Amino acid sequence: MPAPDTRLWAIDTPNTSYVVAVDEHDRLRGLHWGPRLSREQALALLELPESPFRPVVGREPRFDLGAASAFQYGHNGLQVRFADGTRDLELVFTEAIESEGGLEFVFTDRHYPLEVRARYRNHADSDVIERALTLRNNGTEPIEVVRADSATWVVPALDTPRLSQLHGEWGAETQLTRTTIPYGETVIGSRRGVTSHQANPWVAVDDGAATETSGRVWSTALAWSGSWRITVEKGPTGNVVVSAGFGHDPIAIRLGGGETLETPIAAGLHTERGFAGAASAWHEYTLAHVIPHPDEVRPILYNSWEATEFDFTAEDQMRLADRAAAMGCELFVMDDGWFGARVNDRAGLGDWTPNPDRFPDGLGPLIKHVHGLGMRFGIWVEPEMVNPDSDLYRAHPDWVYHQPHRRRSEVRQQLVLNLARQDVAEHIHAQLDELLSDNEIDFVKWDMNRPFTEAGWPGAEDPDRLWFDHTRNLYAILDRLRADHPDLRIESCSSGGGRVDFGILRRTDQVWTSDNTDALDRIAIQEGFAQAYAARVMGAWVTDSPNPLTRRAVPLDFRFHVAMAGVLAVGGDLRIWSDEEQARGAELVADYKRIRPTVQLGRRYPLRAGTVSGVQYAKDDAVVVLAWRAARSFAYPDPLLKLHGLDPDARYRDERTGRVHHGAILASHGLELGLDPADYASAMIELKRLP
Ligand code: GLA
Repeated sequence: MPAPDTRLWAIDTPNTSYVVAVDEHDRLRGLHWGPRLSREQALALLELPESPFRPVVGREPRFDLGAASAFQYGHNGLQVRFADGTRDLELVFTEAIESEGGLEFVFTDRHYPLEVRARYRNHADSDVIERALTLRNNGTEPIEVVRADSATWVVPALDTPRLSQLHGEWGAETQLTRTTIPYGETVIGSRRGVTSHQANPWVAVDDGAATETSGRVWSTALAWSGSWRITVEKGPTGNVVVSAGFGHDPIAIRLGGGETLETPIAAGLHTERGFAGAASAWHEYTLAHVIPHPDEVRPILYNSWEATEFDFTAEDQMRLADRAAAMGCELFVMDDGWFGARVNDRAGLGDWTPNPDRFPDGLGPLIKHVHGLGMRFGIWVEPEMVNPDSDLYRAHPDWVYHQPHRRRSEVRQQLVLNLARQDVAEHIHAQLDELLSDNEIDFVKWDMNRPFTEAGWPGAEDPDRLWFDHTRNLYAILDRLRADHPDLRIESCSSGGGRVDFGILRRTDQVWTSDNTDALDRIAIQEGFAQAYAARVMGAWVTDSPNPLTRRAVPLDFRFHVAMAGVLAVGGDLRIWSDEEQARGAELVADYKRIRPTVQLGRRYPLRAGTVSGVQYAKDDAVVVLAWRAARSFAYPDPLLKLHGLDPDARYRDERTGRVHHGAILASHGLELGLDPADYASAMIELKRLP
């Protein structure tokens, strides 16, 4: 609410306030992002001393809307170039529009016909604030938009600010690191046209002392699945801003006369509950405001990729489906290799009709078989791609991104279709729509296996648009397919976890976390993933041992218990699993079905004690602990695991043993796990709060 005689506003959430004020130069300053303040308290922010204005030094980065203009030497979230070459903005505050759950500031340039709207949205049940920009060219000449960050969050001054980020690569996604923020600008992002394995659009800032369970944490995430950039800037006196936006340098957008540019949402969160508190706030926000069917627990899927790769017949798929159904799986997903001339990775991408040798009667018989087993049927597609050896490419060689006089670099013998072209987007939509209309397909795994190269669009008026319009058209196709096929559920995959972000999660039901299914590596990947993304969307397969990628041999229970911390699935070659393994697998699948609502919809707490780690999920009266220990040291006994979020006065019954524990003891001394002393020991423990 604005104060009557000032230009100050607070965006309030249940526990926090983000306070901004328009100063005498019409700049939007970030004054407070922390505990909730009353109006009177927020107004007192205006009385705090300001650091002196020293133009030679530059400014302290404290503007919520960082528009490039005089003396703004740091990172500017908003940068344009007008047709006459002018780059500086002089924004004039026009109005603030308040609505239910939202606040919008309108600025217009003092001279040029540019309107800038900064939009916030808050929710009654979440400390996450959403922010986006809308730019409108009210003139006739084009305006070049060099940078339009969705949000520039102003973090209060901290002693030794620290940055948490998720980095990685293929097979090693979402690795969490925390480093002291250096002075100047730290930039992470993707120039690949896709979210990327190398960096995920999520960061957290703390004062260097936050722990899992306590301390102040400021976190931001960008809801965008194309190229992106997050700039973390520490000014001379330690102030930090975090600016997040789509696009990458040197890409700019030409905004034509009358045109509007909407940025994606950047979401921001402050908590005093430490890193795990921040993570669970993101998870709760995901369930309440991001994913399409939040109350629906995900089925246990079987995916055939690691079992067969490209070498299979329809009959092979049916036999795998038989085994998967016997184990208790609920959704059978046929992966790559079913369409066009796709019997290896050299041909067929782009031709989304069943391979006539493998499926002489179409997909119908397989789908009928799978449905007959009581499972849903899912299928793999990679619609943004084409193999040069395909009917689609032979008919439309100009439909891929390319530049004149440049080679067309292939990755895995494939090129990227120019989805920014409306005709290409229409074609892709039509092919998928036909596939889904002609067949009873319940689930699609939508893959994207290579980054952009030579990203050109010969003949286009503004070829750089492709970096934005590719993602927009991808979203539009997904939205349209979902609307027309309401029972369809979609998994986002990009060579594993290369497209995991809050943009894709608005229109998909789960993501494929990593092609690395080694349980030990997965513990680290899942820990990083969980900083922002909920267990409800984290696809986790149990595969063969030794693992095909790492060659590590890991016992079946350990593999299952690690995968049970997310959306459990099976991806091994069930044709070679022994009867004993199949039977144990079925028991573990049944265990998972009991704990699934708690894991997928509950609150997550990371657990660690010495060589033992794990996760706890809690929902209503149910508490689930999944714990694992790869190796003991010096034959020391396993430590107890302290649990979190329990009622100290309540008692909790171990559903397996019947033993009753006091909440106070579980919290301050811990839970005895009874792990096998051998390596790769693991446990699943279900506790129920007694009335
Ligand atoms: C990617 C995916 C895998 C599998 C293959 C199929 O690598 O991440 O899960 O679908 O493509 O080619």
